[in-house]
Amino acid sequence: MTIRRIALNTGGGDAPGLNAVIRAVVLGALHEGWEVFGIENGYGGLLPDEAGEVVALGRADVRGITHRGGTIVGTTNRGNPFAWPTPGRDGTTTEIDRSEEILEAFSAHELDALVAIGGDGSLQIACELARRGLPAVGVPKTIDNDLGVTSLTFGFLTAVQTATDAIDKLHSTAESHQRVMVVEVMGRHSGWIALFSGLAGSAHVILIPEIPFDIERVCEKIAERERRGRHFSIVCVAEGATPIGGDVVMKTVPRGTGDQVRIGGLGAVVAREIADRTGKETRSLVLGHLQRGGAPVAYDRVLALRFGAAAVRCVANGDFGKMVALDPPDVRPVPLAEALKTPKFVPIEGDAVAAARALGISFGDG
Ligand code: F6P
Repeated sequence: MTIRRIALNTGGGDAPGLNAVIRAVVLGALHEGWEVFGIENGYGGLLPDEAGEVVALGRADVRGITHRGGTIVGTTNRGNPFAWPTPGRDGTTTEIDRSEEILEAFSAHELDALVAIGGDGSLQIACELARRGLPAVGVPKTIDNDLGVTSLTFGFLTAVQTATDAIDKLHSTAESHQRVMVVEVMGRHSGWIALFSGLAGSAHVILIPEIPFDIERVCEKIAERERRGRHFSIVCVAEGATPIGGDVVMKTVPRGTGDQVRIGGLGAVVAREIADRTGKETRSLVLGHLQRGGAPVAYDRVLALRFGAAAVRCVANGDFGKMVALDPPDVRPVPLAEALKTPKFVPIEGDAVAAARALGISFGDG
């Protein structure tokens, strides 16, 4: 198969490092003598009635973007070709399969291959399109670090740094006011961001989805610190953590937006419980999308550039239906279906959890 024109797109929530991947794909493809196109807003740019276009990307378009957050081609988490949210006249939204249109538009633009940069949702889509004959290569993106097979996703370490900086700052205000500060970080159903930022930022309690917690144990840790004359505590809560036997706290999703469910709100719940049970003055904050913004840290830039270059090698080798994965010390292609089989959770018997326990950090269990 001769490659002449390739496309790339970014899907799902943005993550620091997307632009670095785009730069590496564009420069790598130009080096091969191919033309490169960006499909704007996920797959939206392929549909005439949706915002966005298919735009040519040249050297000048990717100049000076390695360090820039966001994505120059736009993204969406409402752009699943197999379940495209379509507003009806009555204000409701129905999901329609538009995958055939997408495949036809891809051919009409005379595109030979797609580099799909995304998290599990976007890579599921790429996998399904690949099954239908679209030559696709996936690049694993998510601040949550919850994709299987790859030992890291780009964006994760930047999110960890942002959360760590925030926890560092909370220490002085918590100590000055002798308060408990509860900080909620992202991560969906995995606790990677909470564990790493909680460790790096010296949180006293870390709550993660992989270890259901008992609020009494959390309060005991705070009380034990009080007895030792430490009158403040920092509690780092993953948004997807759950009390033993309880459910994930969800935000209300506005009707008719076609949005997926949104996780969030546990920090405030935990703070209320702590205040009620310990009588300590307690405050909570949600770091939210700050964790997705800004310049990628150096390691994320390098990983993103390596992933982009590896994706181009896959296209050149005709290695389709694959995802590039970090398998230290190398980046190598793995079947997309294999990568998507099992999400990557924090191993509760792993050394990072053991290190936290050895430091006296409570997970609100045992
Ligand atoms: O998957 C990345 C992520 O940032 C999660 O950590 C978070 O739950 C979710 O996306 C938020 O997505 P949205 O962009 O819909 O607010």
